Amino acid sequence: MKLIVGLGNIGSKYDNTRHNIGFDFLDYLAKKENLNFREEKKFKAFIAKKDDIIYIKPTTYMNLSGDSVLKLMSFFKIKREDILVAHDDVSINYPETRFSFNRGAGGQHGIEDIIKKSGGKSFGRIRIGVGPDPGGDKRANYVLSKFNNDEQNKKELIYKDSEFILDQWLKLPIEKIQNPKNKKQANAKLKKMNYKLKKGLTLWFTGLSGAGKSTVANALIGKLSKNNKKFPLELLDGDEIRENLNQGLGFSKEDRFTNIKRISFLAGKISKHNVLVVVPVIAPYQEARDMARSMSEDFIEVFVNASIEKVEERDVKGLYAKARSGEIQNFTGISDPYEAPSNPDIELNTDKESISKSVDKVLNKLLEKGYVEKI
Ligand code: ADX
Repeated sequence: MKLIVGLGNIGSKYDNTRHNIGFDFLDYLAKKENLNFREEKKFKAFIAKKDDIIYIKPTTYMNLSGDSVLKLMSFFKIKREDILVAHDDVSINYPETRFSFNRGAGGQHGIEDIIKKSGGKSFGRIRIGVGPDPGGDKRANYVLSKFNNDEQNKKELIYKDSEFILDQWLKLPIEKIQNPKNKKQANAKLKKMNYKLKKGLTLWFTGLSGAGKSTVANALIGKLSKNNKKFPLELLDGDEIRENLNQGLGFSKEDRFTNIKRISFLAGKISKHNVLVVVPVIAPYQEARDMARSMSEDFIEVFVNASIEKVEERDVKGLYAKARSGEIQNFTGISDPYEAPSNPDIELNTDKESISKSVDKVLNKLLEKGYVEKI
């Protein structure tokens, strides 16, 4: 679980002030990512959740922002290292944005409070420059004043740069994060990103027909092997296996079990030799998937979750229409069961999220578990 915090003060008199740029960035993200902020009094914040990320705008007023952060840390067991705070920084000139980690507050009272209440400085920061600093007595009024027109026009740049930092923070180790002024080089590096397989495993995609199992599996394969043609992988696709190895098997419960057993056996044999074996098949029964897990030394179950309404509406292969008319029998989701995994290692929501988002979720899990490494 990761926590992204935008700092500011609640109340219309603070809208558009320099001190509220952290809030503004989160509002920008909300629009882009379809986040739905709701006030939750017990967390003293406006809060939105998406996947394994929580976004908050504390309602405590700037100087007590740590109260809200601490409440979320305790409730969701979030480590300080998994927090990223976007805030105004008068020591940096507008419109420059920088990333920092493990750094003192430099007089930013919201950050001071977060350091105090969370017990340390080891969290990420998107420091959005609102300077030049007028210094001394003028500083407080200056940060609480509104952006002028010229500055207002450059806000888009601030958001893009902040997003650039956020993207890296989600994907890279802290020490690799680049500041936006090095964006070109950093983007080139990200594009050239190579992946290496550390240990073989079976990566099992289960879900309804048309949920996007093969689509996500193939996009993942594309990403892993784009710059590394030697990335060791094998795709055992349901349709393809049924046309070859399992020709003649139908869709009765027994035949589906036989189908899964043969695929699992093969996947287990291949993945042992340091190969990533990607298996997109419906595999509607939990018992069969448990059997599949037991047949590979390393196994990850990905639930490709899309509602029956959505896949039927899409009906890419025209099979749902045939299943409804009775032309095809025992069709999963219509006239045959699909047991959704109760405890998958990864859940994708292909109804709502983009293919690249789904791919990233799987890839991040492979990185996190040490099966894949960036080189
Ligand atoms: S499984 O149930 O044995 O795991 P598998 O993934 O191999 O199924 O094959 C499913 C594919 O077969 C579907 O994507 C679809 O194209 C086709 N198919 C044909 N008849 C059926 C059916 N009755 N139920 C599900 N899929 C079917």
